[in-house]
Amino acid sequence: MLPPAAPLLFLLLVTGTGGTVPSPRAPPRGCYVAEEAGERTFRCSQAGLSAVPAGIPNDTRKLYLDANQLASLPEGAFQHLPVLEELDLSHNALAHLSGAAFQGLAGTLRHLDLSANQLASVPAEAFVGLQIQVNLSANPWHCDCALQEVLRQVRLAPGTGTGIVCGPGARPDLVGQEFLLLAREEELCGVGRGGARRGTDVALLVTMGGWLTLVVAYLVHYVWQNRDETRRSLKQAPVQPVRATLSTVEVSSTLSTVV
Ligand SMILES: *[C@@H]1O[C@H](CO)[C@@H](O)[C@H](O)[C@H]1NC(C)=O
Ligand SMILES: *[C@@H]1O[C@H](CO)[C@@H](O)[C@H](O)[C@H]1NC(C)=O
Repeated sequence: MLPPAAPLLFLLLVTGTGGTVPSPRAPPRGCYVAEEAGERTFRCSQAGLSAVPAGIPNDTRKLYLDANQLASLPEGAFQHLPVLEELDLSHNALAHLSGAAFQGLAGTLRHLDLSANQLASVPAEAFVGLQIQVNLSANPWHCDCALQEVLRQVRLAPGTGTGIVCGPGARPDLVGQEFLLLAREEELCGVGRGGARRGTDVALLVTMGGWLTLVVAYLVHYVWQNRDETRRSLKQAPVQPVRATLSTVEVSSTLSTVV
């Protein structure tokens, strides 16, 4: 027998959770399940979502969450979708990705669209182990080391390379530049800002300094040798010490002019 308060409590529990957890059969508002080319597809394009919806069927192979207001992805946002192959997150407001955002998709995910978001940088860990083709176009990239590392791990969707352009938050000399052209010339994972380009400058300076030192050393050597010869000639003709002193003075003034 239930105590009299039990039905009320049950009712409270049901109404309390019923609003947030939709029944597994009814997809979230604005979303629908479809069968496309024999693949279970879940479409939530332009559905006004600000978070990844609950209730995505676990046999979904293609998931369209494009043109919503997603601002971030929690860790393991899609790990309950064990056969997910294609994920479209384009045209959202994603500014940050967790390093574990795509956790659990390593074996299955093939296509990922992150284009037209607000991404300035993504953690390279987010793509570790994924065998994906990714669209990274139309984001305000910082063009940093993390992006360079990401591009070593993933393949870009065909024709999307030119769409990766450095945004306003990037180093001033990089803003508006195409990242792939840039990454060909500059190692962005070098020490400090500017990476290898600055390293090359330093190497050039050191080399030039080295040459200059050599030239100066040679001149000094040359001048000293001359002085020795002057002394020797002095010994042969010790009559004019004043002259000798004079020539030494001349030599040192020549030296200082040269240096
Ligand atoms: C989906 O979940 C159901 C019930 O939990 C399970 O029986 C089924 O195997 C899962 N499907 C996939 C593709 O994992
Ligand atoms: C990549 O994203 C851009 C911008 O959203 C889009 O115009 C383009 O068609 C996409 N390309 C591919 C191959 O997905």
